[in-house]
Amino acid sequence: MLCIGHRGAKGHAPENTIRSVKKAMEFGAPWVEIDVYHIDDHIIVIHDDTLERTTNGKGSLFDKSFSFLRGLDAGEGEKIPTLDEILDLTFEKTGLNIELKGPGTADPVIKLLQKRFTRSWGRENFLISSFDHKSLSYARAVDSEIPIGVLYEKVPENYLTLTEKLNAYSVNISGYFVTPDIVADAHNNGLNVFVYTVNNHEDIKQMKKMGVDGVFSDFPDRVIAVDESF
Ligand code: G3P
Ligand code: MG
Repeated sequence: MLCIGHRGAKGHAPENTIRSVKKAMEFGAPWVEIDVYHIDDHIIVIHDDTLERTTNGKGSLFDKSFSFLRGLDAGEGEKIPTLDEILDLTFEKTGLNIELKGPGTADPVIKLLQKRFTRSWGRENFLISSFDHKSLSYARAVDSEIPIGVLYEKVPENYLTLTEKLNAYSVNISGYFVTPDIVADAHNNGLNVFVYTVNNHEDIKQMKKMGVDGVFSDFPDRVIAVDESF
């Protein structure tokens, strides 16, 4: 079962910061997940479209300049990172799930990635996901091969229509709604199942028993420990 550090290692460091991603990598997480927005012609790594919860700033992201945002404290003196910085950090080491948040993010993210792919570190080390399924269609239009994960809270009855249209790699679904039947159905249709956000030991074990392909966790160290004990 793949361990995907959620917003880096959110349980150990300020979420979506360099420190958080480094922490996940130190624990040995093979993948990390981050959330991104396209603001002022830069791709920045942050979960909310407002600043209060994770920084010392206030208000909406969308009316701020990049240099203003970079001047904020995103926790423990960390800056809001850029996608470029996370790509530098994880290159040839750790797979990256980039969750597209906010409008107009797909095109610049995919184009940035396309410039960064190398022979040794290509598309197979990336997963593009979003709850905004239109953004995923844009991503697929810009890159016919990049792995795509369709984010759902609860998988709808007709989910295969979209996963087939997108030629998706995975469905990324909430731990509250995952069932053995959904896992079996997704697997029968060639899809991986990644489940968020799985933090306690019992839940991690249950996901492993259910046969899910990976879990997002704020505590990647726990997922790795449970995995090793099986
Ligand atoms: O991608 C999995 C998970 O991160 C989705 O929810 O709100 O944490 O971005 P959220
Ligand atoms: Mg996310």
